Amino acid sequence: MTTKRSFIKWILACAFFIFTFKFLKVTKSETKNNVIIDLDNLSNNSVYLIKNKQIAAIRMDNNINVLSIKCTHLGCTLNVAGDIFKCPCHGSEFKLNGEVIKGPASRDLKEIDFKIENNKIIIYL
Ligand code: FES
Repeated sequence: MTTKRSFIKWILACAFFIFTFKFLKVTKSETKNNVIIDLDNLSNNSVYLIKNKQIAAIRMDNNINVLSIKCTHLGCTLNVAGDIFKCPCHGSEFKLNGEVIKGPASRDLKEIDFKIENNKIIIYL
């Protein structure tokens, strides 16, 4: 009898914690690690690098995208070289849309979630 009650209490405690965790969970938009860029700092056909976060905001033909600039080969931080991203470590190259042009990297750059609000780009890290 006691075992059955203990089991029911245990189940109720688990349900309580799952329920609480679900509703207290912090959403991406609320994290302190967001990066905010003033849209005026990203002119058309330009790239805005934030090297310490390994991300880049790209504005081409007034379309904005945010990519990781962590090389998909071994993780070096990419540089901009003209209209491509180039890895200083082993020479991989990527288009500004993140597509691999030249190895040894074989995977495209990762897209990063963002939104534009009040003339600012809010990047969710
Ligand atoms: S880390 Fe970029 S090519 Fe190796």
